Amino acid sequence: MSRIVIDCDPGIDDSLALMLALSSPELEIAGITTVSGNVPADMGGRNARKILSRMGRLDIPVYIGEAVPLRYDYTDAMDTHGSDGLGESFLPEASGDFPEKSAVEYLEELLERERISIIALGPMTNLARLFSKRPELIRQVDELVSMGGNFRSHGNCSPVAEYNYWCDPDAAACCYKLFAEAGKKIEMIGLDVTRKIVLTPNIVEYICRMDQETGEFIRKITNFYMDFHWEYEKIIGCVINDPLAVAYYIDRSMCSGFDSYTEVETEGICRGQTVVDSMDFWKKRPNSHILVKTDAGKFMRFFLARVMKKKDGSRWREEDLALPENLWYGEE
Ligand code: BDR
Ligand code: CA
Repeated sequence: MSRIVIDCDPGIDDSLALMLALSSPELEIAGITTVSGNVPADMGGRNARKILSRMGRLDIPVYIGEAVPLRYDYTDAMDTHGSDGLGESFLPEASGDFPEKSAVEYLEELLERERISIIALGPMTNLARLFSKRPELIRQVDELVSMGGNFRSHGNCSPVAEYNYWCDPDAAACCYKLFAEAGKKIEMIGLDVTRKIVLTPNIVEYICRMDQETGEFIRKITNFYMDFHWEYEKIIGCVINDPLAVAYYIDRSMCSGFDSYTEVETEGICRGQTVVDSMDFWKKRPNSHILVKTDAGKFMRFFLARVMKKKDGSRWREEDLALPENLWYGEE
C-alpha cells in the first residue's frame, strides 16, 4: 500500500475517520490536509491537530487548504457539526504550529516525489486546484477514495446533492473530468453506502463499557450531531459518513459497486448532483467506481475493534469482541 494523505474538513465524522485511520496499522499517513467544508479550513486544521494530539500523533503534519470554493460562496455545515466543528466539545487546542506550506503546495511537492493515495473526506477544492494546474500529477495518485455524491440515494443538503459535492460542485466536476482524461477512476463512497452507517447511543454506550476514555470522547463529540439527526431526520443516532471511506480503503470487501462514467452538475437546482451513467448511454470510459452496497455490521465490527483499546493498550481482534445483539441498524 502506498502512503496516504487524508484531505478533510473536521468535522465530527472526519474526526472519527481520522481516529480510525490512526488506529489502523496498515496505513502510513504522510500528511493531513484540510479544506473549507464543514468548518473553515483553518478551524479544520486545528481540529485535526486536536485529534492527532489525543492519539499521540502530532508528528503527522497538517496543512491548511483552500478557504473558499472555486466559484460559489462558501457555505459551512456548522449547524450540523457545531460552532467549533467538534460538536461544541470545545477541546483544548493542541500545541505546536502549522507548516508554512499550503495544502496544495504540499500535495504538489509530495506527488512530484512519490506515488500516494488520497482519501478525500471534504469538498474537493484542494484537489481541483492542484490537478487543474498539474494534471500530469494524477498519474502519481495510486487511488483517490472520495466520500461524496449519491447514486440512488437522495441528497443530504438538497433533494439530489450530497454536501461535499454541493459545497464546491465545480471542484468535484473538475476532478471527475480530469480523472476521465487521465483514464483513471475515482472510488466514490457516496450516501448510498454511508447513510447505512449509523452510530447510535447504544454503540457509544458499548464503547464506554469497553474503553471508557474513548467512549466518553466519542460521546462528547457526537452528542450535538445526534441532536441534529433527531431534529431533522428523527434518527436516534448519527450517520457517520467519512470513516467508511477509510475502512473501504483498507478493506475492499467493505463496499461493492460498479464502474461507470460520472459527471457532477454545477448549476441550478441540481447543483452538486452526481450524474452516474450506469446504463452507459454516453459510451464513455468509466472514470468512477460507484459504491452502492455495504454491510453496516461488518463496518461497525471493524471500526470498534480498531478505535477501542484494551486495558493493556493492545488491539482487539474482531472475532474476540463480545458484541450484544442488535447493536446496530441495518445489518445485511
Ligand atoms: C459529508 O459532509 C460532511 O458533513 C461530512 O463530514 C461528510 O464528509 C457527508 O455529506
Ligand atoms: Ca467530511
